[in-house]
Amino acid sequence: MAEDRVFYITTPIYYVNDRPHIGHAYCTVLADVLARYHRLFGEETFFLTGVDEHGQKVQEAAAKRGLSPQAHCDEMQAHFRNLWPTLHVVHDDFIRTTEPRHEAVVQEALQRLWDAGEIYRGEYEGFYSPRVEKFFTAEELVDGKCPETGGEVFRIQEANYFFRMSRYQDALIDHIRRNPDFIAPESRRNEVLGFLSQPLKDLCISRPKARLSWGIPLPFDPEFVTYVWFDALLNYCSAIGLYRDEERFRRLWSGAHHLIGKDILTTHSVYWTTMLMALGLPLPRRIIAHGWWLVDRTKMSKSLGNVVDPLSLKDRYGVDSLRYFLMREMVVGLDADFSEEAFLRRHNFDLANDLGNLVNRLVRFAERAFQGRVPPPADREVSSQDRSLREMAQAAGPLVRSLVEALRVEQAVEAAMNLVRRINRYLAETEPFKVVKEDPARAGALVYQALEALRIALTLLRPVMPGKCTELLKAIGADTTEGRLEDLRWGGLAAGTPLALEGAPFPRHEVPSFEGEPAAPAAEAPKAPASEGPALVSIEDFQKIQWKVGTVVSAAPVPGSDKLLALEVDLGEGAPRPLVAGIGKVYDPASLVGRQVVVVANLAPRKVFGRESRGMVLAASGDQGPVLLAPMAPVPPGTPVR
Ligand code: ME8
Ligand code: MG
Repeated sequence: MAEDRVFYITTPIYYVNDRPHIGHAYCTVLADVLARYHRLFGEETFFLTGVDEHGQKVQEAAAKRGLSPQAHCDEMQAHFRNLWPTLHVVHDDFIRTTEPRHEAVVQEALQRLWDAGEIYRGEYEGFYSPRVEKFFTAEELVDGKCPETGGEVFRIQEANYFFRMSRYQDALIDHIRRNPDFIAPESRRNEVLGFLSQPLKDLCISRPKARLSWGIPLPFDPEFVTYVWFDALLNYCSAIGLYRDEERFRRLWSGAHHLIGKDILTTHSVYWTTMLMALGLPLPRRIIAHGWWLVDRTKMSKSLGNVVDPLSLKDRYGVDSLRYFLMREMVVGLDADFSEEAFLRRHNFDLANDLGNLVNRLVRFAERAFQGRVPPPADREVSSQDRSLREMAQAAGPLVRSLVEALRVEQAVEAAMNLVRRINRYLAETEPFKVVKEDPARAGALVYQALEALRIALTLLRPVMPGKCTELLKAIGADTTEGRLEDLRWGGLAAGTPLALEGAPFPRHEVPSFEGEPAAPAAEAPKAPASEGPALVSIEDFQKIQWKVGTVVSAAPVPGSDKLLALEVDLGEGAPRPLVAGIGKVYDPASLVGRQVVVVANLAPRKVFGRESRGMVLAASGDQGPVLLAPMAPVPPGTPVR
């Protein structure tokens, strides 16, 4: 179906009461990444973001600065609008709720609902929380404060207009039940169903002008302005032509995906959906609620003042690293901890080491050995390594696609990075840098093979790091026009194309605050007095220790510890060994599965954090944390180390 191919993605329109921070940057970058992936998948995409300019919060922020609300908005919206291009966010439209194209649609929608009897005039009695711009009843308050933020609420008793939201309660429950992926993740869907298990009240949608003037006047009573949420939510439709260009509206709306933070789940899943029902419009395809970026376990928020400025990070370390970190570190729907240390670790390990070094080594080698050009491929695959690398590269596209469609963006990124790591292992195994002395043609074929797999990995990482990946694709002589996944066939790289790379693609940065930690915390070696120097052991003593190579079959964090990982390592003994290793701050569990490590196999079993550990995984105590030891080529599990 042609309509299924439209991917219309929106972000919340952000309040202009303050400047954007990393939370806004995350949501908007995620929307950008999703749009770029869906374009790669061959879909028509449309990406909308913007700002929410009306309401009490903005009016107060303007008053504090001694500005008119409009002057304040004009200035503040630029902070958002100008930020996006610097984060390589390319949206198709940016909407402001003070624009005539939006105000006209809000008034039209209100008039239609008024004419249809969906809005009535009544008495309002309750409490208003300006921080979330929402109304609450006395029973909903917690200790007399806003139940969502604990902030100040204001008692209100006045005539107002109400939307008959309660009418749609059953229809909404029905829709959510019939469409299991309508609200993602599932925990949020359950939260909404829980909310809907209580009787739904009608929604107050006006404010008397006497108290709040900064809003869109009700078309049927100019003494009132529109409640800011009723106004703001309509941006998703006003921007794409509702009541102006019905055909365009219908086409794009059929693929609507609302990306939001979990703070605004009810307004989107309940207010907005019932408004659409009353207006006779279809519901969006999906509402996707993401989690919080936390700093010291507290939500980062403008109102709390603990914000991380996305600009400063991008200026210091590069926009691509920032985007990579945001996408790789957060599981869509869950919270994630922000720290500069975690950021730099991703930058140094994933980008500088795994990816940057790979590109650098290949280009430098081609410069030395193949006149700086892509060497010709082999006529046929020579080794099983050739085949398995090609097969992994060919499977990566469909894998990334299915993960992105399931909103597992962090896993999609990891899948592409696993291909990068596989290329590194391929080079370690096939050694073109040595082979070239005896057999330059074979070395060339190995390099071609690696470059071709790298071209695919870079194409799959490009939605996340459009700037760097385009640059690196160019560096390895690949075509950089934005193609479709379908066309990403093996063998696309043309032999003879010049390669060119200036400098290291991802320069390493010192991690300022991180203190190196021992690889295995429970291995308390008795300390020799400092004056004696290192004690010598006999070869007999050394031979008492059984060192073995093992393959990691599973890895998971140990709950309650951010340092420990519980591993299962296959040592060729039938059943894998349970091991606990203090590498959790440096290694992502998923990235370890399938990798080989070196294990002290005859260490007496110990309990670490209540878990049995039967051996010790060896790691170098790097100054940025433990670095696992691994054989330079794969060997059967259980192979002894001597
Ligand atoms: O709610 N971590 O605007 P807003 C992750 N105008 N994301 C965060 C975050 C954090 N610490 N803090 C904020 C509004 N966000 C309304 C929306 S839509 C019709 C109207 C993100 O400026 C997250 O996406 O308070 C959240 O939903 C949004 O910013 C709220 O932005
Ligand atoms: Mg907010």
